[in-house]
Formats: sequence, structure tokens, C-alpha cells
Amino acid sequence: MQTQTIPSPEECQKAVRAWIESFPVQPLAYLHSFGCQLNAADAEQIAGVLTSLGYGRTEDPAKASLILYNTCAVRENAEDRVFGTLGSIKHLKEQNPALIICVTGCMTAQPQVAETLRRSYRHVDIVLGSAAASRLPSMLYAHMHGQRHAQDITVYEDIPEGLPTQRTSSFKAAVPVMYGCNNFCTYCIVPYVRGRERSRQPEQIIEEVRSLIEGGCKEIMLLGQNVNSYGRDLGGGMDFPALLRQIDRIPGEYWIRFMSSHPKDATPALMDALLTGEHLARTLHLPVQSGSNDVLSRMNRRYTVEKYLSQVQYIRERDPQFSLTTDLIVGFPDESEADFEATLRLVEEVRYDNMYAFIYSKRTGTKAAAMPDSTSAAEKSERMQRLLSLQRRISTENNARFLGKTVRVLCDGESRKRPGNLTGRTSENLVTEFPGDPSRIGHFAQVQITQTSGGMLSGHLL
Ligand code: SAM
Ligand code: SF4
Ligand code: F3S
Repeated sequence: MQTQTIPSPEECQKAVRAWIESFPVQPLAYLHSFGCQLNAADAEQIAGVLTSLGYGRTEDPAKASLILYNTCAVRENAEDRVFGTLGSIKHLKEQNPALIICVTGCMTAQPQVAETLRRSYRHVDIVLGSAAASRLPSMLYAHMHGQRHAQDITVYEDIPEGLPTQRTSSFKAAVPVMYGCNNFCTYCIVPYVRGRERSRQPEQIIEEVRSLIEGGCKEIMLLGQNVNSYGRDLGGGMDFPALLRQIDRIPGEYWIRFMSSHPKDATPALMDALLTGEHLARTLHLPVQSGSNDVLSRMNRRYTVEKYLSQVQYIRERDPQFSLTTDLIVGFPDESEADFEATLRLVEEVRYDNMYAFIYSKRTGTKAAAMPDSTSAAEKSERMQRLLSLQRRISTENNARFLGKTVRVLCDGESRKRPGNLTGRTSENLVTEFPGDPSRIGHFAQVQITQTSGGMLSGHLL
């Protein structure tokens, strides 16, 4: 609730900038983003806006004049982490009352969370929902003019074009192609906190990707909650496979990845683009969530196990080793042992290279939150362990297909566990380790694989 008239965003920007310039020493901002890659992409815009306002950056909250957490609401433990972190910095505000603490993102877009922050986290100065980057100057302006606990949790449905972006990597970049979600899977909070689907104009996306590639970027991740519905709201005939094909024509040495791809909309055209594209990484993240038709229907996923398996078959008939990854939820309300065993069977059949498995977390306001659930927490975690151990076995068996082969990797860092080694990722997104000089980071390399395990490939540079 805003209790004063706030001038236009441009005037706020100017006033906040002048205020920051008046500090004897440049104030520093500490920014931490929780959650998914879309949130991380938002944080790069928040970082860009903070820099344009005159803030420097610090990795140490104790040195910051502004602390900003960009939050996630997808599971309860994500929210608990934020509340815990906010509790742990209360003393910083006591030591320095001029410190500005700001919380943004999906978690704060929920009215009950904003209310908890207002009541029980009095040291938080600014609460902003998603689409925070463009609203930050106005909120800082309100704070600067004495508004205590400035709050704006409206779920804005605009497309943030033209904002300054401060990217965290020089060779990997995330490019959102669309925002929001229309799917309302019954367990999921995202549509409530991110609003309805809206696609960026293809020209804007293609230009952004082109300029990243020309600037030396080697890997671009196209992002959306369901990239397969890209373009539906544009009415111009551009769908996601067509966008992929256009991007793929940009000359250069790079990989394109994307996520997430909802199975209800994954078409043969998408798979054909993936199978034939020159720059498209050979992997598809196709979140299945469950291997039981009954659970899928109660999740409102709008596909069946049979339809999902026909998509897997389409791609594997054309490339038997094509890499697939997935998301799975264990312990959806009233998931029976038979439902869970159906999930295990599906995982055995598809043989994913990797999966993200989550124990169901009840989200206030979603349909599943009102569903009866007789499965105990102990049973859910036991199922989770069974699923993870199955996936570990399959990953180990799958990774053995690379033994003795030469793979192309994008070198992305130094190994933390084995000094002198670099880490990289294959086109399938598998982590690879090999001895090498850090000057290779950010470049492609050929690596001969000499050892494999469930979690990793290792070898040497050619
Ligand atoms: N839009 C993507 C899709 O539909 O594939 C998913 C995005 S969501 C941020 C990432 C994953 O979180 C989902 O695929 C799902 O497995 C998991 N997830 C979402 N809500 C959850 C909940 N309430 N409890 C547990 N896991 C959840
Ligand atoms: Fe959530 Fe479903 Fe939308 Fe994915 S598609 S963000 S799981 S509602
Ligand atoms: Fe992402 Fe979490 Fe929001 S997963 S879209 S940051 S709820």
C-alpha cells in the first residue's frame, strides 16, 4: 500500500540517482536471488537497475547499504530459507539503521507473505512482487521520502523490455522468451505470482540473442514456464519451433538450450527442430511430474502417460541416445503406492539422463492445497529415496555410453574438488571434468572420456 503520491518512474529514477550521488562514498548493494533461472534472469535486470542508480556491488551483506533478496515461492522450504535469511540479517539493521532491506519476487507476490513481512519482519523496508526491476526506483523514492515498509505486491503483467541488464557470466546467458503461465497445475503457485502468459516479440528476442553471440556468448538458455506456448498471444504465426529455427540461423559458435517444455504442447515440429538444428543442444527437458494417469489428471497436467511416452518414442526412434531430463513430484496428495510404482516404471522406460525430484509441498491458494492427503511424510521421503536411487543407477548406466568417446564441452569453471581440473558441460548438459588451464573457461573444447559415474564424466583434453 502506498500512502503518498509517487512521481513518474523517470522522475523517481532521477531523484534516487541524485540521492545516491550525494553519498560521500559510493553505497554498495548486496543482491541474492533464490529459485529458478527466470528469477535469476530477473535479478540480472534488478542488478542493472541498481547499477544505473549508482550503486556499487558487494558479496558481503555486512558491507551493503542496500540488501535485496529476490525470492521463490515454489515450495515451502524455499520460503523458509528466505524467512531464515531475513532473521539472520536483523542485527545488521540494528547496527546500521540507514541500511535498506528489500524483498522482491514470487514469494512476496503472495498477500499473506507480504502481511507476515509487514507484521513480523519490521526491519524489511521495501516489499515488491515479481516484475520488480522496473518498480525499484519508485519504491526507493518512497523509502527515501520516509515511507516505512513501502509495499507493492501487484502482479504486473508487463514485459520488461529495455531495462539495463547486468549479466553474471560473459559466456552463458539466459534470455526469457515469455513470462507468466496459464496452466494452473493444481500444485503450483507460479500462475498466481507471475500472472498470465505473455510472449516477447520475436524480433526483440532474436536481436538480443544475436548481440549476445556477437559479444562472445557461447550458450544461451531460452526461458519460459512453458516455452511451447510461445507466440500464442502474438497472433503472428510465430511459434516456438519457428523461433528456434530462426535463432539457429544466426552464425557463430554457440549452443541454444531452453526450458521448460510442457509435454501437453511438445509437438513433432519442436522435436524435429531439436533433432536437426545446428546450434541446438541435444537434450530436452520434458517435465513429466508423475507416471500415473490418475495423479496427472488430478494435477491438471492435461496429458497422459501414453501421450508422453509417444513423444519420447518420436524422438528416440530418430536418435536412440537422445538425452531427456525431467521434473517429478513425489507424494502428491493421496498418491498411492501403485501410483508411485507407475512413476518408477516410467522412469525405467524413459531412462532419463537426469531428473529434478521434489517432495510435494502444499501451496496456499492452489487447488491441491484443499485435496485430502493420507500419505505420511515418512512414506513420501521413503518414496523419494527409492526414486533417487533408481535415477542414480540409470544415470550411471547412461553415462557409460560416453566411455572412450570424444565429446564437445563448453568449459565453464575450475573444479572445486580437484585442483588443476576444469569443469564443462556436454551438449546433453552432463558435467565433465578434465585437467586444463583456466584460460579455456568460456570456450568449447574436445574431451576424450576415460571414466564415467552416475554424476559425472571425466577425461582429458584433445
Ligand atoms: N513450468 C515448468 C513445467 O511445468 O514444467 C515448471 C516450473 S516449476 C518452477 C519447477 C518444478 O517445480 C515443477 O516442474 C515441479 O516439479 C516443481 N513444483 C512446482 N510446484 C511444486 C510443489 N507445490 N511441490 C513440489 N514441487 C513443485
Ligand atoms: Fe507451474 Fe504448471 Fe505453470 Fe509449470 S506449467 S509453472 S508447473 S502451473
Ligand atoms: Fe521460479 Fe520460484 Fe517463482 S521457481 S517462477 S522463482 S516461484
